[in-house]
Amino acid sequence: MVGRGGGSGDRAAGGCRKTGVVMQGLTVLDRLGSQLRRLCDVVGMDPEAPLRLLTELLGEHGSRPLTEPPVWPSDVADDHTPVEFSIAWNEGEPPALRILAEAFAPVPSVRANALATDEFLRAQAARYGLSTRRLDAIRDLFDTATPHGDFVLWISLVFRNGRPPEFKVYFNPEVHGPEHSPAVVEQALDRLGLAEAYTRMVSHAVRPGELARADRLTFFALDLHDGPQARVKLYLSHHDAQAGDVARAAAVVDGVDPELVTEFCELAGRAERFTGRPLIGSYTITQGAERPNGYSVYVPIRSYVGDDREARERVLPMLARYRFDPAVLDRAIDAVTDRPLDDGVGLIAHVSLRLGPPRPGMTVYLSAEAYQVQPPRPLPMLA
Ligand code: TRP
Repeated sequence: MVGRGGGSGDRAAGGCRKTGVVMQGLTVLDRLGSQLRRLCDVVGMDPEAPLRLLTELLGEHGSRPLTEPPVWPSDVADDHTPVEFSIAWNEGEPPALRILAEAFAPVPSVRANALATDEFLRAQAARYGLSTRRLDAIRDLFDTATPHGDFVLWISLVFRNGRPPEFKVYFNPEVHGPEHSPAVVEQALDRLGLAEAYTRMVSHAVRPGELARADRLTFFALDLHDGPQARVKLYLSHHDAQAGDVARAAAVVDGVDPELVTEFCELAGRAERFTGRPLIGSYTITQGAERPNGYSVYVPIRSYVGDDREARERVLPMLARYRFDPAVLDRAIDAVTDRPLDDGVGLIAHVSLRLGPPRPGMTVYLSAEAYQVQPPRPLPMLA
């Protein structure tokens, strides 16, 4: 590998770093499409379907020049690119490529973008024979003329070689205001026949008195199929938490070793207390289950490192620890950027660990940095 950790002078013309210098003439789709094509190559996937989906998702916004500011400040990524890539490692199969995304309406707003995302999803549901039954059962709970927060509905696409793309939707449970999020989540789970799992989760995982305060219900995700393995995922963001708080929250799920959660947070975050972006836990509830049966922890590593070189150096041994091929991470990084890693922070946005049966998995989230690279911090943020 070339240039990792080198100074900024060792890249021809600064690579893609500065919008407006070498990006002249490039569109959003040019940039994201070439990253996606290269990522497909890394995971050995035919890029045809992913590129078509990306093109449809971006719609007319795909042809905007990167020199123009983003048309809408999407919270999918820090620089407002409406797409974030991730690589998911699972034992016994090649890594999967994923995209988290928000579609933009012709005249964007939080609500209009949700409608555009919904419309995109329904077009894909028709094309790929997906079921929207569970989505339809709860959609109205998240619909309001005046949504609170940055989004109502996002989606993720999962690409595994030789399989049709899989789709997931993410709702914002705080859409009526954080204080209403428990009621929204409870009703949604109740309609899906999963109310019991919710009670168990909340009573054990939330710090006393902190529901919808320091422990916030931030995402409600659904698989877009109807099979027996269809899942709901409920995300709890733990603000100002210690690794031990999150490990306790993880212990609600049978078969999850809380020690692994603590270790993962400490290795990725190296913080006594996570006072920057929150640690997040997600609870998987399989359709028909009475209790959550899977858990993932997400560390927003970009808040806890000085630059991406440091982030990479932390993540590589974590992948090795779970016997995943660390070389894939370097190839994925090279697919997304050619800037020196110590020139910025936030390329490696989150790292997550999936626990519970059958086996642990890890995911690394990579920002497209289509609009901006966050400058490095002089020192890692210390608690
Ligand atoms: N950008 C948002 C955040 O960092 C949402 C988000 C994007 C996110 N990818 C994620 C949240 C992965 C958790 C895990 O919070």
